[in-house]
Amino acid sequence: MSDDLGVRLVGDGLGVPCVDGIERSYLSLDAAASTNALPAVASRVQEFLPWYSSVHRGAGWKSQLATAAYEDARTAFTAFAGRTDTDDVAIICRNSTEAINHLAYRLGLRPDDVVVTTVVEHHANLLPWARFARRRYVECDASGTFGVDAVAAVLDEQPHPRLLAVTGASNVTGWVPPIDEIIAAAHDRGVPVMVDAAQLAPHRPLPRAADYLVWSGHKMYAPFGAGVLIGPRATFANGDPYLAGGGAVDLVDLDEVVWTDPPDREEAGSPNVLGAVALHAATDELNRLGWDAIRAHDDDIAHRLSEGLSGINGVRLLGPSAQPGALPVASFVVDGVAHALVAARLSAEHAIGVRHGCFCAHPYLLRLLGLTSPEVADYRAAVLYGDRRRMPGAVRASAGIDTTRQDIDRFLDAVARIAGGGPPPMPYDQDEHTGDFWPRTDDPAWSSPGRRLGAACARG
Ligand SMILES: Cc1ncc(COP(=O)(O)O)c(C=O)c1O
Repeated sequence: MSDDLGVRLVGDGLGVPCVDGIERSYLSLDAAASTNALPAVASRVQEFLPWYSSVHRGAGWKSQLATAAYEDARTAFTAFAGRTDTDDVAIICRNSTEAINHLAYRLGLRPDDVVVTTVVEHHANLLPWARFARRRYVECDASGTFGVDAVAAVLDEQPHPRLLAVTGASNVTGWVPPIDEIIAAAHDRGVPVMVDAAQLAPHRPLPRAADYLVWSGHKMYAPFGAGVLIGPRATFANGDPYLAGGGAVDLVDLDEVVWTDPPDREEAGSPNVLGAVALHAATDELNRLGWDAIRAHDDDIAHRLSEGLSGINGVRLLGPSAQPGALPVASFVVDGVAHALVAARLSAEHAIGVRHGCFCAHPYLLRLLGLTSPEVADYRAAVLYGDRRRMPGAVRASAGIDTTRQDIDRFLDAVARIAGGGPPPMPYDQDEHTGDFWPRTDDPAWSSPGRRLGAACARG
């Protein structure tokens, strides 16, 4: 097991103010939301910047170079997804959310078509399907997981589904479903599969058998606004693209358009070449580190995190208790302390950044928390009044390739202090609209109006 991959990200160790007036080194345990850049990513972007120019639109040397960098990145993304010997295309978009919306539009779904998905999904893999098709859901058990049989049973219901859209790893519990077996079960039934790899991509090789894949650069150390949708060329060869505009066409007259071939057909508008270059550098760097090393590090950190949290009195971990192979992601609640207050105290008193709330996975959280329908109705009514103070939720700590055992120990120590029941060193006020807590202090680092915008975690 490897404690430390020796990776430091841009910004790691920066000092931030705490409410006791002491500056502490910032510990981000929010990698499942967004990661800092790898130094190799930042330097590749820096090197490329002087050569930045229009892509697919210029005859000049720099445009040729920028176009080549963009297309090299595309090739790297298909290789990263293990698609070197297929006719799949990589469409470069903003993030996983855009990629899934893009695919939902492009599959030509009809209102009676069925897309099978699961209750553990991020909203990005629920809401886009709701726009175009009927959904059937794979339920989870009390521990927040499901097996291949449960997926197969839902796939076998009628009408026959057009697609299975399933996560490669949960952003809430870090659970990694048996994705290869799930894909095989779907393929046995003639159902294509889209894997939401937003969480999986920075941690594990992508499932080769998936028909469609999406992932986001900002969760894998390339925060420059690029994400990827991979799928068979044939899916995008006919019909109207998701975005219409320049770059996607061969010919336009006032009442006629001839769309060009994919992937350009799917990328109207000037492409984000800096994002593509950054994400290319991140894929190179993850390949260089190697999946075995990343996996060993993840296992070590995930184990320490979940064992440590389970050992703290008053802390309850959500999701399966023993999870060999899970990502280093843990969601938990602290008895008698609101999730928003735990997160606020970790930040204000300990300089530790985590997320709280429902993590853009409301159906999953409601199940993990075991809430009853009347309770949910009660929360819904309060939110409709603009009052998010009692929004249900949990606290999530999530680690990346830069996280060390010392980081986890520092976090566990802080959680133990909060769960220990001692009063906070100062009162905290809760914002009704966001549900966030804020320390009551005159310290300008914490009391200036700009800081009060808060995290608004409850909105996810
Ligand atoms: C599992 C999962 N899917 C999709 C998304 C959406 O990713 P993005 O915000 O990059 O579009 C996230 C983001 O947290 C996620 O965790």
